Amino acid sequence: MNVLAKPADLADAAPAGVFVEEVKTVQHYTDRLFRFRMTRPSSFRFRSGEFVMIGLMIDGKPLYRAYSIASPAWDEELEFFSIKVPDGPLTSHLQKIQPGDAVLMKKKPTGTLVNDALVPGKRVYMFSTGTGIAPFASLIRDPDTYEKFDQVILTHTCREVAELKYGEDLVQETLNDPLIGEFAKDKLIHYTSVTREDFPRKGRITDLIQSGKLFADLGVPPLDPAIDRGMICGSMDMLRDTKALLEEAGLTEGANNKPAEFVVERAFVG
Ligand code: A2P
Repeated sequence: MNVLAKPADLADAAPAGVFVEEVKTVQHYTDRLFRFRMTRPSSFRFRSGEFVMIGLMIDGKPLYRAYSIASPAWDEELEFFSIKVPDGPLTSHLQKIQPGDAVLMKKKPTGTLVNDALVPGKRVYMFSTGTGIAPFASLIRDPDTYEKFDQVILTHTCREVAELKYGEDLVQETLNDPLIGEFAKDKLIHYTSVTREDFPRKGRITDLIQSGKLFADLGVPPLDPAIDRGMICGSMDMLRDTKALLEEAGLTEGANNKPAEFVVERAFVG
């Protein structure tokens, strides 16, 4: 079944009130991960770190999943980082998109992984596993993040070494960017680990926090609610376990209407 269409083909078929955007570039990293960039409607506004529903027409019906927007709020295109699930209702099709194909996007972005949901602090930890790095790909390219914090620590843990590539390229591009590089160069730290292959740093982020290795490697004191802030994005289990460690350290969970010391978001797409 071929569910991919061009934007012009969907002009009449797409549901009312939904954007029909055009894929610009697609990059595959592993057999489980890819990213794509697409056009951004001029009326579409969002805050860096938010997610939106994106989808395809499948059997004449739209099917959507929540995706964090990986590009920053100032970017003229929209970027997404996705898992490929062989029999996933959406990603089994989405992984085949090519430049020129159409992607549906609902109009309302939302989410709690935004700078506004954190009270001011000195250092922000962005804890991610797998595709959970996506909202942080947006936030580390936003000057507001560097205005708010002196240190921005992006942790990314994956099963395999090859799955770190998106984040490695992202951080290099961010540091080399003529605009954001100036903000990021003295503040952004990328901390990677791998759990199922040989790598210089092995282990789940939760274990690295608990053992104190994360802080020793970074040369910073353990988590302190007076100065440290956290954002967490990964699987349900990772969210639960990382949140418990931040709470143990005395940080409290915040939301858009009640900023506090850390925020949590689900990143899972099937
Ligand atoms: P592990 O290989 O030990 O399961 P996934 O692709 O399943 O979401 O996993 C992405 C990364 O998140 C893997 O390195 C995985 O480690 C790690 N992970 C899975 N569950 C947890 C958890 N409860 N806490 C912290 N890290 C986790």
